[in-house]
Amino acid sequence: MKILITGSTGFLGSRTAAYFSSLGYEVQTPVHSQLDITDKNSVNIWFRQHQPHAVIHCAAVSDTGRCQREPEFSTRVNVTGSVNLAAACREFGAKLVFCSSDQVYHASPLPGPHSEREILSPETVYARQKLLAEQQCMEICPDTVSLRLSWMYSETSLPGEHGHLLVSLRNALTDASLPLSWSDRDFRGITGVDAVVKNLPAALALPGGVYNFGSGNDLDMYHTIRRVFEELNLTDALTRLTRNPNAAPRDIRMDGTLTASHGIFFESTRSSLLHCLKTCL
Ligand SMILES: NC(=O)c1ccc[n+]([C@@H]2O[C@H](COP(=O)([O-])OP(=O)(O)OC[C@H]3O[C@@H](n4cnc5c(N)ncnc54)[C@H](OP(=O)(O)O)[C@@H]3O)[C@@H](O)[C@H]2O)c1
Repeated sequence: MKILITGSTGFLGSRTAAYFSSLGYEVQTPVHSQLDITDKNSVNIWFRQHQPHAVIHCAAVSDTGRCQREPEFSTRVNVTGSVNLAAACREFGAKLVFCSSDQVYHASPLPGPHSEREILSPETVYARQKLLAEQQCMEICPDTVSLRLSWMYSETSLPGEHGHLLVSLRNALTDASLPLSWSDRDFRGITGVDAVVKNLPAALALPGGVYNFGSGNDLDMYHTIRRVFEELNLTDALTRLTRNPNAAPRDIRMDGTLTASHGIFFESTRSSLLHCLKTCL
């Protein structure tokens, strides 16, 4: 099976490409300069020449701050680029897996864990782009699988890639001058990227639709970190750990029932983070 992975130099795309290669898939990993997803013509030429059976679409402007500052540029990548891929998938009969985000639940009036069935009207540019891309891809190509991903972390760091929770924790644990401050009003799932990647082959077989695709978490960020530190007996870190009083309240936790009904499961945030820190600290 031939799989096109967009964004294959990025945090998720690079790990996805390595995993699918290890499983024996024929993986196509054009870099941005070889395939700019905002260029419809280039996308069509790629499909004609390489005939992928499926696309795992990881390319994006994933920096939410940049999306806010540069809405037109980021809309071209996050929405138009995704639409270009959906149109090509329809024309060439390929399955599209689109990487969306739990940020679509930001500003929901309902408490988490959120269901895919909620009617949403997110406030941030990035979240609006992700929701619009989900909807437009689905209209063009009803077989599209949109995966709402949570914030992800990795045990490994590759040169030049953006930071994540584990990098911040490792830095703060080794340098006491750095803050260890988390909000007790911020509720979200956080997922190990390897768990996401290992569930992607199953995601390819899902019927078209939107799926929450990440770890559940019944705690806020402050208590998530606190419980993990307690279980690891990190007494010094516990004395430094404080509640961040400035963070705005947020609850973007996702309900994994639909994904689980298709046999796809994620360990809880606390448990997976604990396992990870036990091995990599
Ligand atoms: N990381 C997370 O915690 C997280 C959480 C929720 C959802 N997501 C979503 O998951 C997906 C992957 O995220 P990520 O963290 O792996 O992103 P990332 O590390 O920022 O990687 C983005 C990738 O997209 C490529 N790209 C950007 N513009 C492009 C264009 N016009 N044409 C082709 N390629 C382009 C980049 O290549 P260049 O660098 O060469 O431009 C890079 O390879 C994204 O859709 C993101 O929104 C991520």
